[in-house]
Amino acid sequence: MHDFKYKKNELFCENTRISTIAQQVGTPFYLYSYKTLIDHLTKIKKAFVEIDPLICFAVKSNGNMAVIKALANKGAGCDIVSGGELKKALKLKVSPKKIVFASVGKKEEAIALAIKSGILLFNVESVPELEVINAFAKKADKKVQVAIRINPDVEAATHHFITTGTLKNKFGIDLQSTRDLLRRQKAYSHIEINGLHIHIGSQIVNSTPFINAIKKVVGFVNDLRQEGIEIKYFDIGGGLGIIYKDEKPQTAEDFAQNIIPYLKKTGLKIIMEPGRFIAGNAGIFVTKVLYLKDNGFKKFLIVDGGMNDLIRPSLYNAYHDILPVKKTSSKKITVDVVGPVCESGDYFGKERALPKMVRGDLLAVMSAGAYGYVMSSNYNARPRVAEVMVKGNKFAIINEREKFNELIKRERIPDFLK
Ligand code: LLP
Repeated sequence: MHDFKYKKNELFCENTRISTIAQQVGTPFYLYSYKTLIDHLTKIKKAFVEIDPLICFAVKSNGNMAVIKALANKGAGCDIVSGGELKKALKLKVSPKKIVFASVGKKEEAIALAIKSGILLFNVESVPELEVINAFAKKADKKVQVAIRINPDVEAATHHFITTGTLKNKFGIDLQSTRDLLRRQKAYSHIEINGLHIHIGSQIVNSTPFINAIKKVVGFVNDLRQEGIEIKYFDIGGGLGIIYKDEKPQTAEDFAQNIIPYLKKTGLKIIMEPGRFIAGNAGIFVTKVLYLKDNGFKKFLIVDGGMNDLIRPSLYNAYHDILPVKKTSSKKITVDVVGPVCESGDYFGKERALPKMVRGDLLAVMSAGAYGYVMSSNYNARPRVAEVMVKGNKFAIINEREKFNELIKRERIPDFLK
C-alpha cells in the first residue's frame, strides 16, 4: 500500500502533484510520502502490539535524516551498521537505548562511539569482534550489552545477493560456537551477552524461513535455560518482503500471527529491524525523458536518471514498476527504459508497455524508497540527485541535489602534476 495515486490521469504523492515538484526541484529526484512511511511503521506496531517489540528502522535502507526523524518521532529506534549511521541517529537525538548495531566489520572508531553513547546492543558477528568490543569497553570502564548474531543456517528464498542466514554467507556465528561463547562469557570482563539476533535475508515474501529460523532460536533459548544461561533480548532482524510486481508477501498481521506464539513463549524482549517494509513503497524515483530512440529492432526511452542513482535493476535484476507521471494516451508502445550511463546494464526496465512519450515527459520508477538513494554513486561524474518528502499538500527538499563543486571538492592535483 502506498500514497502514489493517479487523480485525473496525473500521478500525485498524497495531495501533491508530482509534476509540480519536478518543475521546482528539477529531475531526477527521489520522492517519499510521509504518510506511507508512518502507515507502514504503524502496521507493524499494530500487528505486534501484544508483545510490544522495539522497532528499530534499518537505516541502511533509507538513511535520509528526515526519514529517520519522521519514524523516530513515532517511536522507532534505529538499526545501524556503521559509525556514519550511528552519528546520524545521535544527531537526531534518537535515544541510544533504541539503537542496535550490526555489521560483520565494525570499525574501532564506531565501536568506541557506540560504547560512549551507550547503545542498547551490539549485534556481534564473530569472536574476534567480541574481543575488540570487550577491550574498548574495558578502556571506557563500561559494561556493554551484546547480542550474538546467530547464523541459523536456513535458506531464505530470495536473491542470492541478499540471503544472509546460511553458513555459505559471512554473517553471524553458528549455533554451536554461540553456545560455547555463552558458556565462557565470563572471560569477557566488560561484556554481558544478553541477547540473540538473526537476520536471514531481505525481500522474503514467505514466512516459512522466518518461522523456521525463529523456531530454531526458541529451541536454543530453551536449551540455554536448562543450562542456567539466561538472556534478555531476541532481535529477529528485518527482511519482510514487499510488492514490487506481483509478489504476494505475508502481511504484517500474517507474520505476527505466525510468530507471536513462539516469541511469547520465550518471554524475551523482542526487537525488529524492518527497512524495506517501511521505506520501500514509501518512495519513488522521478526521472525525465531525454530521448526516444528507435533502432529498427527496439525502442529505447532514454531518461535522465541512471544506474548510479538507482542500481537495483542493474545489480539484482530487480523489477520496479515504471509509470508515466501524466497519462497522455491509452495507446501503449513497448520500450526499454534506460539511463545515460555508459553500460548496457544501465536500465530501469525492459520491454515495458508505456504510452508514447516525448522529450520532457516524466516517469516514476516505483518502490524505490528502500536501497535507492543510499546505494547511489557518482559514477560518470553524475552528482547525487535530490530527495524530497511530501506530507499532504506540502513538500520539502530533504536533501539538496549535489552541485558540481561538491563533487570535486575533495579532489587534489598533486604538486608533481603541476
Ligand atoms: N537487519 C540487518 C542485520 C540487515 O542486514 C538488514 C538488511 C536489515 C535488518 C533490513 O532488511 P530489510 O527489512 O530491509 O529487508 N540492497 C539490497 C538489500 C540488502 C539488505 C541488507 N540487509 C536490495 O536492494 O534489495
